[in-house]
Amino acid sequence: MEPILVDTQPIDGQKPGTSGLRKKTKVFMQPHYLENYVQSIFDGIGGVQGKTLVVGGDGRYFNDSAIQTILRMAAANGASKCIVGQGGICSTPAASNLIRKNGTDGGLILSASHNPGGPDEDFGLKYNGPNGGPAAEHVTDKIFDRTKEIVQYKTLDTADIDLGAIGTTKVGDMTVEIIDPVADYAELMEKLFDFDAIAKLFAGGFTMRFDAMHAVTGPYAKAILEGRLGAAEGTVVNATPLPDFGGGHPDPNPIWAKGLMDLMMGDDAPDFGAASDGDGDRNMIVGKGQYVTPSDSLAVLAAQATVAPAYADGLAGVARSMPTSGAVDRVAEKKGIECFETPTGWKFFGNLLDAGRATLCGEESAGTGSNHVREKDGLWAVLLWLNILAATGKSVKEIMADHWAEYGRNYYSRHDYEDVEAEKANALMDGLRARFEELPGQTYGPLTIATADEFAYDDPVDGSRATKQGIRIGFTSGGRVVFRLSGTGTVGATIRVYLEEYETDQSKLHRDAQEALAPIIAAADEIAGIVKNTGREAPNVIT
Ligand code: G6P
Repeated sequence: MEPILVDTQPIDGQKPGTSGLRKKTKVFMQPHYLENYVQSIFDGIGGVQGKTLVVGGDGRYFNDSAIQTILRMAAANGASKCIVGQGGICSTPAASNLIRKNGTDGGLILSASHNPGGPDEDFGLKYNGPNGGPAAEHVTDKIFDRTKEIVQYKTLDTADIDLGAIGTTKVGDMTVEIIDPVADYAELMEKLFDFDAIAKLFAGGFTMRFDAMHAVTGPYAKAILEGRLGAAEGTVVNATPLPDFGGGHPDPNPIWAKGLMDLMMGDDAPDFGAASDGDGDRNMIVGKGQYVTPSDSLAVLAAQATVAPAYADGLAGVARSMPTSGAVDRVAEKKGIECFETPTGWKFFGNLLDAGRATLCGEESAGTGSNHVREKDGLWAVLLWLNILAATGKSVKEIMADHWAEYGRNYYSRHDYEDVEAEKANALMDGLRARFEELPGQTYGPLTIATADEFAYDDPVDGSRATKQGIRIGFTSGGRVVFRLSGTGTVGATIRVYLEEYETDQSKLHRDAQEALAPIIAAADEIAGIVKNTGREAPNVIT
């Protein structure tokens, strides 16, 4: 079938951020907007002639019609096959698995992750490479360059296909295979973990609540937790993916998963609580009366992963993003394994995982994962926790208490100032940069600044360098504050302030985090002049 060549012109602002291109849905729905970006991806990766791609998304508003457009364009550009999740649905980690398992040339994932969905909310699209991970920066740079020079895209004049019908069909000359998006993923999880031990735990009366937040992990969690592992029916709540996530904000943290938090802190709490985000790559872990920060979760998983069959031989190394707390570093030190500090963004773990240098990775932004795929994986983290709970017979609270007693506790919190005018946010960061030399030695309350710099990363595998990855202020106490601008927002700028203090005094391991961090919080505000520079009296979100 002959492709139709459509004339177009470059559209400003199609620069992929931390995780692909994210914009308001209405921006994506403008004439030529999606098409320009899809053609730029195809051109940026050297064309798709004869290639096979995985295509799937988190089911948010515009997911299905965007997939029809992508399929027509892939066919017009000569792709030989697309593998599509039924109904256009596929969690991000499951898509990563499909790319790897089928040895495809990569995939297109439609999601704005944890951002709300709907006509007035957010949409996103990213390209993952043949290793199943988010494209490296040299690839996204090429894609961005194409968006600035595009004059034509290719498509076909074909009817929409039925995305709900499992089986094989055609779009033009291209084969489209519509598959059950859960089956391969569930099979992979069954290989990694001791399902018998977890099933025994549930059979013994262990109770759990998994909040799928009306997002993509609903079907996965139901099939695995309730289906294969025998958790009671109703364990998974908000299990049906909705185009607007039920009007919610599908970000698994104590603010947006408040219902789950309230339950877990109350008298009727089940033994274990967990949640996942819009596209299934993030997770939140909470025990009875015990919230676990993502940084602590990574440390616990690293300390105990060997209980799971997939990690029984030990870990090659671990990696965390720079703003993530140093809790996992202490585990790595004790185990004598390598620990890498990377810039924010899962793509930076790709080389370490591919090279076999790291087995487990994690970020403060609620992402944890391993070398089983090349994305963070929400349900994977939940299952590894379940495996640990089953193997140790301990509660989440006991596991945390034991962990802190052994390794010390990295008190941690993130304060976000959302939707700040970009100019003001940049001025605040520039103001800090200008003072790197004068800050060391200055005191703020009980704290003295030891170091001030901006994080840059030299990839130990391919030698590439990423600069301007967050401003770090270290204190002589061992605590620190990091200032960084979010790379995933769609309006204005978000200033993230990451606060951390390390405590080894056994009598001080069970304090409230905000209280324990109070001196650092006060110092952070004073050093950066947040109130003065932004006019904001307080952060919008504290996690
Ligand atoms: C996405 C990426 C994560 C990253 C996060 C940072 O979720 O997949 O790897 O940690 O963005 O978001 P931010 O808004 O802080 O740039």
